[in-house]
Amino acid sequence: MARLAGKVAIVAGAAFGIGRATATIMAREGARVIVGDYDAEAAAATAESIRDGGGEAHWIHFDATSEDSVRELIAKARERYGRVDIMHNNVGGTEPGKDVNVVELDLGAWDRVLRLTLYSAMYGCRHVIPVMLQTGGGAIVNTASMSGVIGDAGLTAYGAAKAGVISLTRYVATQYGRRNIRCNAVAPGLITTERANEVVAPPVQKIFEEHNLVPRNGRPEDIGHVVAFLASDEAAFITGQTITVDGGASVHGPTLVDMTKLGLKI
Ligand SMILES: NC(=O)c1ccc[n+]([C@@H]2O[C@H](COP(=O)([O-])OP(=O)(O)OC[C@H]3O[C@@H](n4cnc5c(N)ncnc54)[C@H](O)[C@@H]3O)[C@@H](O)[C@H]2O)c1
Repeated sequence: MARLAGKVAIVAGAAFGIGRATATIMAREGARVIVGDYDAEAAAATAESIRDGGGEAHWIHFDATSEDSVRELIAKARERYGRVDIMHNNVGGTEPGKDVNVVELDLGAWDRVLRLTLYSAMYGCRHVIPVMLQTGGGAIVNTASMSGVIGDAGLTAYGAAKAGVISLTRYVATQYGRRNIRCNAVAPGLITTERANEVVAPPVQKIFEEHNLVPRNGRPEDIGHVVAFLASDEAAFITGQTITVDGGASVHGPTLVDMTKLGLKI
């Protein structure tokens, strides 16, 4: 049974990685999908591969850091289908080497990372909510990160922005829940997307893997399935939540791996 049959979904940041997986899974679940991205060629390829698989998808070029562009993305989706039921605000990222510790971080990078990661989600919520209200409600899913929950040696701007996404999610859920708009977030651990493979070196990926309870790192589909579930009516009583999808990395004590290597029985 197609869980998203009849629904119109925008996936913002769907050309690669997690967004592409989500768009593909949502289409498989029966949604008509708008693939939004600033990489037109890759967005077109994602939409084409969804259509090749028997799904319905169209791509729209947009820039998540521009409020006008986000507004236009949503307006174009509404123009095409008359409604928007699902919005996945998935654009986000950081600038390795510049987004470092709080003393040394590049303030230009701080601004850009917040704009790309937090403002983009806020624009997506701000402009899709009025459209969703016109047809009786909808579901928003924001991509947060475990970086928004824990502390780290660097990535200060990214962590603060993702913590902001988690908070934004609760505020939207609180403000519009009574009008049938649910808003949830997903917080991935390391997911081996093209982008992650560019910025996370293999030895570092191995460290992540060792700390997972599930014996591997995450795949884009691991997130896509959770986003599709949160967007579906099966999640009708879930709102304001951030669902951690990290293979269990964050549920155990930080000493577990070192203790295990020492062969200590605890
Ligand atoms: N991969 C991971 O390990 C991981 C972990 C935690 C959170 N996340 C988050 O998941 C989301 C997706 O990450 P990903 O690993 O798939 O990376 P990604 O960089 O491939 O995904 C981002 C998508 O957004 C698009 N995009 C980037 N800037 C844009 C802009 N200004 N306007 C429109 N589109 C833009 C990219 O082309 C891409 O398709 C991000 O928010 C990221 O912070 C990823």
